[in-house]
Amino acid sequence: MAHYWYFNIPTWLFLFQILQALLVESKPNGKIPAVIVFGDSSVDSGNNNFIPTIARSNFKPYGRDFLGGLPTGRFCNGRLPPDFISEAVGLKPIVPAYLDPSYKISDFAHGVCFASAGTGYDNATSDVLGVIPLWKEVEYYKDYQKKLRAYSGLEKANNIISEALYLVSIGTNDFLENYYSFPYTRQKQFTVRQYEDFLIGIAGNFFEDLYDLGARKISLTGPPPMGCLPLQRATNILEGQACVEDKNNLAREFNVKLKSLVEKLNKKLPGLELVYSDAYDIFLDIITRPSKYGKFFRPGLLNSYYSTMQPNSQPLDD
Ligand SMILES: *[C@@H]1O[C@H](CO)[C@@H](O)[C@H](O)[C@H]1NC(C)=O
Repeated sequence: MAHYWYFNIPTWLFLFQILQALLVESKPNGKIPAVIVFGDSSVDSGNNNFIPTIARSNFKPYGRDFLGGLPTGRFCNGRLPPDFISEAVGLKPIVPAYLDPSYKISDFAHGVCFASAGTGYDNATSDVLGVIPLWKEVEYYKDYQKKLRAYSGLEKANNIISEALYLVSIGTNDFLENYYSFPYTRQKQFTVRQYEDFLIGIAGNFFEDLYDLGARKISLTGPPPMGCLPLQRATNILEGQACVEDKNNLAREFNVKLKSLVEKLNKKLPGLELVYSDAYDIFLDIITRPSKYGKFFRPGLLNSYYSTMQPNSQPLDD
């Protein structure tokens, strides 16, 4: 079980950045009709419960701070960033997983999550734990569009599709679970720079696909400081379980490439409002100066976060 803690991206991670992006991008009177989510464990609200994979989190202690203390399949103690964002724009307090049969198209019309923990841009990444590849998330989205048009009617459905806020958060697993893991298949094919460019190519095609399908307002979040994720630190024994600097540098480098992809796509595709939401800096700031975020840190949360990351770690400013 401890192994999977490395997918655990705490709830507060992207919240401020994405809300900021949202405020910039949404028109003064434009109400967001739905939040639509693609990506990995940082945003998966439980799709993996319904596929045969070990990359699951529908058991305790996950979900202990969730509504009713339920482990829903979110890789988190509570709600995830898309849940908070959905609530912040006046929609439901949670974004349901598309594969969860307890929800219907009437629910998904206001928010839907296609994300799958353990997945990546690269098909070979989703193969590692047998989770939903990104292209399949898009297939589910196409299926959703059909159901939405049947449910809401063509005009209203098309309006939801074009006015919805799309949240995309993915990329960490391509490096940690795939490139830097046994059997190192991608390392034999690509240098890490080449692999980054390979992923950027897939990302570009993915956003063009979403655009062609009608999405316009999209937020992209790249890898956080991956070297500070629990498994990385737990295994960094030679450096006293500090954050692994190389992995953090890699995340920074990849994020720079994502940012320029965003600029390029906004120029190329008329009407697209693609926003790069920086999770890296805020995550690192939270790790190094947690008390700044005071109320977001209940002592239990902080303690458990640090105890899974590094037994003897103290916040730098506490
Ligand atoms: C990933 O797999 C899908 C389905 O087989 C395929 O259509 C797609 O081209 C693949 N992507 C890449 C980058 O190889």
